[in-house]
Amino acid sequence: MKLSVIGAGYVGLVTAACLADVGHQVSVVDIDNTKVQALQLGRIPIFEPGLAAIVQRNAEKGRLHFTNDMVAAINFASTLFIAVGTPPEEDGSADLKHVLAVANAIATHMRGHKVVITKSTVPVGTADQVRSVIKEKLLQREGSFSVDVVANPEFLKEGAAVADFMRPDRIIVGTDNDVCRLLMREIYAPFNRQHDRMMFMDTRSAELTKYAANAMLATKISFMNEMANLAEQLGADIEHVRQGIGADPRIGYHFIYPGCGFGGSCFPKDLNALVNIANKVGYRADILQSVIHVNQCQKLRLFEKIQAHFTDGLEDKTFAVWGLSFKPKTDDMREAPSISLMSAIWAAGGRVQAYDPEAMDAAHSLFGHRDDFSLASSPEEALQGADALVVCTEWHVFRAPDFELIKKQLSSSVIFDGRNLYDPERLKFYGLQYYGIGRGN
Ligand code: UDX
Repeated sequence: MKLSVIGAGYVGLVTAACLADVGHQVSVVDIDNTKVQALQLGRIPIFEPGLAAIVQRNAEKGRLHFTNDMVAAINFASTLFIAVGTPPEEDGSADLKHVLAVANAIATHMRGHKVVITKSTVPVGTADQVRSVIKEKLLQREGSFSVDVVANPEFLKEGAAVADFMRPDRIIVGTDNDVCRLLMREIYAPFNRQHDRMMFMDTRSAELTKYAANAMLATKISFMNEMANLAEQLGADIEHVRQGIGADPRIGYHFIYPGCGFGGSCFPKDLNALVNIANKVGYRADILQSVIHVNQCQKLRLFEKIQAHFTDGLEDKTFAVWGLSFKPKTDDMREAPSISLMSAIWAAGGRVQAYDPEAMDAAHSLFGHRDDFSLASSPEEALQGADALVVCTEWHVFRAPDFELIKKQLSSSVIFDGRNLYDPERLKFYGLQYYGIGRGN
């Protein structure tokens, strides 16, 4: 089947590559010519495990191609995926200008019936808005073209996006049209083999499903972080509590890991957007606002522990920071807890020596200009001359470090563990002081 994907960002690229990999003919269009040229040369602008290989093999087979010619892409296929960005506005609401610009371009250049599928995370009601924009514009054109708009949100996790697309938990399709239902079944048939994962609903429910899923996951995390903070006050260990409650299948073990807060391009942005959507219809979303607030505070928990430990202040102190990305297996530092932590350390006069397996370039472009920041080429190098170690991201490589070396390198022999990677008893054995999240101290 011929498909066009508009927008070669994270969602567009993963969608296009995976659709091509199962045999569809996919044209990807983006207005950013530098990005298109890089993709044409096989260079992938993001770090996502497995993606480069899929892009390369499908480009070689001629099933996947990249262009900056919007008109050609619109007319390459009768099925068009919109996967352009919806950046946050100042008030937190999603900015639809790129989505609506694409809708306008489709209406202006389409030369036959189109099914337009919104893949970007968009406010509830966007599919209706895209449909009206296109239909209105079509009224001004000669000829009688028709359009259907389908909401088909993505649920990709950074670092596991290819696997998520290839083996989805669910494929949500918002449409009230039987022909579109059949079309969507055909497109996704290769990903829907063992049992039926397709769920059909109206477009508004599909759009809200995406926000509700992210909000529920973020709520679980903020809830656990609140329990962790309480455990500290009460002398309990949240790691025991986590296992104790996770055993109840109604709660489950997933997404109940306490830590130094959630980040990334989705949770913070989508929560704010949903609060905004609620405000617009006159509903005060108390739980969502608390989830955001608890997370903002949580991102500063490690710093508060550091400040309480070093009672003589942080001036002239150097901190080894392990992990800069918002989670492992990505180079993405958007909204990362490491940024809140390091900014607070700098504001208090401290220095940072950081290491991350993938986010070094991102960190360099954000903070490379600072005198109080340096990047080390290994976790061990980050420890040299440091007073304390702070772990912000649970990369595998940080899980079993050489504690003797850590003890030797750190002048204050103290670890602040923002992901509860280490066993406090074991660290005591090595003569290291330990602060975790919610661990009774
Ligand atoms: C998320 C959703 O999982 C995905 O379905 C959606 O499409 C996009 O948003 P992503 O942002 O890639 O994906 O990351 P995810 O793995 O969900 O982690 C989000 C944040 O929560 C990370 O900062 C992570 O460290 C944190 N987290 C996660 C916790 O603090 N505790 C947990 O138990 C799980």
